[in-house]
Amino acid sequence: MPIDLNSVQQDLCTEQNLIHFNSAGASLMPKQVLDCQIQHLLLEASIGGYEAARKKTADIDAIYSSVAKLINCEISEVALVENATIGWFSAFYAIDFKAGDKILTAQSEYGSNYLSYLQLAREKGVVIEIIPSTSSGEVSVSALQKMLDDKVKLISITHIPTNGGLVNPIVEIGKIAAANNILYLVDACQSVGQLSVDVKEIQCDFLSATSRKYLRGPRGAGFLYVRKTIISSLNPPLIDVRSATWNTLDSYQLRHDAKRFENWENNYAALLGMGCAIDYALHIGMHNITAYNAVLAKSLRHSLTKIKGLSLWDIGREQCAIVTFSLQGIESSKVQVLLLEYNINVSCSRPTSTLIDASTRQLPDLVRASLHYFNHQAQIDLLLSALSEINDQHLKSK
Ligand SMILES: Cc1ncc(COP(=O)(O)O)c(C=O)c1O
Repeated sequence: MPIDLNSVQQDLCTEQNLIHFNSAGASLMPKQVLDCQIQHLLLEASIGGYEAARKKTADIDAIYSSVAKLINCEISEVALVENATIGWFSAFYAIDFKAGDKILTAQSEYGSNYLSYLQLAREKGVVIEIIPSTSSGEVSVSALQKMLDDKVKLISITHIPTNGGLVNPIVEIGKIAAANNILYLVDACQSVGQLSVDVKEIQCDFLSATSRKYLRGPRGAGFLYVRKTIISSLNPPLIDVRSATWNTLDSYQLRHDAKRFENWENNYAALLGMGCAIDYALHIGMHNITAYNAVLAKSLRHSLTKIKGLSLWDIGREQCAIVTFSLQGIESSKVQVLLLEYNINVSCSRPTSTLIDASTRQLPDLVRASLHYFNHQAQIDLLLSALSEINDQHLKSK
């Protein structure tokens, strides 16, 4: 069944004339997601936070089921966390790296992840190696194959980078990781909610994601998947009374499920909101969302080619609904501000968020227009006319 665009529009909490092309930053929550959080906050205020959580135990448990359904795993493999970074850190720093161990990653790797590699390179002597990209821009699976040796401890890949439409071939990479028994960590922060993500198909050991982006959930929530067969071999970097039990005065026992990576205190309103957002996406259907977004993004990329002096920067054999471009002679941060005058939200992607990719491709600051299924063609047309006006005014002022 195709997406019921009318009901999607009616579920928005925004003003009619706002054009939000920033789902890769923080998307727009449907009313149901907002209401779910407000209800929980009201309950907390009226009966007490602990009592509210106890009363809503079944709903809180259901968040795990929603995540499990979304990514095709078991509930015992899900940890609910504050954001994608915390999830990713919990996985990464739980791995027992030794000096000389190699981490293989992609050219488009996200800044926070890369900083962690650098930290371990400095502190533990791990070696970071960048997998070359193909001529179309995604990770080269054949190059990866050639880089394998017994020192490779981790393959760590961002599915969709922060700075553009590239979609990395995480299933093909997963086949190699599985065949060679190498730990495989996937940062799916920009893809969950936008593309179907199935951890069994990907064959990853870990996958991290956030709520506020393509899932259309609230800020301050996210999740981590950890494959059940490896949980007991991992040592979380931080533990508390949630992740472990203090058995005797001088010993503790870590949990055997993915809650080993959680901590005790939570913003339950936000987590419930994330669960509701996942259910909303599942109701619409991930395949429907992907298909609709692909049409919209193709249309935007095609339209943008008509603007003189505009450069499109997206690479990759497969591209998603994140569209990046720059206008000759106008700073992207200025374009972002000027578009706000037309009620159009976009974001600006800076080289420091993906420094290797930015240096290799000599990227300037980019305008990032990230589309989602509540957007439509008329909004693309308005973006185009706004950009044309901005461009014309710039050319006249020269
Ligand atoms: C590729 C990628 N990974 C991770 C993150 C971090 O996500 P969070 O802010 O939820 O921790 C981002 C945020 O923009 C991102 O783009």
